[in-house]
Amino acid sequence: MDEQQTEILAQLWQLLVRGGADRRSPMHTPVVASVDADGLPQARVMVLRKADPATASLRFHTDARSPKVTELDGRPVAVLAYHPGENIQLRLGGTARIETDTEDADAVWHQSTLFARRCYLALQPPGTRLLAPASGLPAEIEGQQPTADQIAPARPSFALLKVAVTSIDWLHLANSGHRRARFAQSPQGWAAEWLAP
Ligand SMILES: Cc1cc2nc3c(=O)[nH]c(=O)nc-3n(C[C@H](O)[C@H](O)[C@H](O)COP(=O)(O)O)c2cc1C
Repeated sequence: MDEQQTEILAQLWQLLVRGGADRRSPMHTPVVASVDADGLPQARVMVLRKADPATASLRFHTDARSPKVTELDGRPVAVLAYHPGENIQLRLGGTARIETDTEDADAVWHQSTLFARRCYLALQPPGTRLLAPASGLPAEIEGQQPTADQIAPARPSFALLKVAVTSIDWLHLANSGHRRARFAQSPQGWAAEWLAP
């Protein structure tokens, strides 16, 4: 990697770290894409909870019963984020892993607010057909903050989605000329090459 590429890699991880920590960052809600059982692309917005440059990993939270869990566990994943202020698009590629009953999943579950955990109380798995529009939450919980006792049965539905990032396509838009680079993990660390935008 040349000096400029090293700087770009550090800066893009900074944007991702900020995205994981700051809900006002446009990188807080990237698009996560998988491939379904029919080979069709499936993309959805997810909240980025944490980005760690040291391990080149991202963390998301999801319902363990949702279709994306089987589509993603141990499989390739694409994550797309755009920062309008910086004019930077990031297309990340990597491998996804789902964690439900690890120490880490337990720790994150207990750190989350009761409100944040409430959606995991939904009676039907995400994507279940309903006869009428509804949240799927038990009636006594709807619109309320659940108690610690009420939230306990939701724990098996909570999963971490971890992404081991192996490639990053960085695109910077500028009137003076767009720039694009691809970063890829190699046994020696990150390697980079410039691409035509
Ligand atoms: C702003 C926003 C944030 C979202 N955050 C999450 C999230 O963190 N985890 C999640 O599983 N779904 C999240 N969703 C819902 C997903 O986009 C998606 O609709 C849902 O998870 C079902 O996806 P699936 O059928 O592909 O499993 C979010 C949606 C929006 C609009």
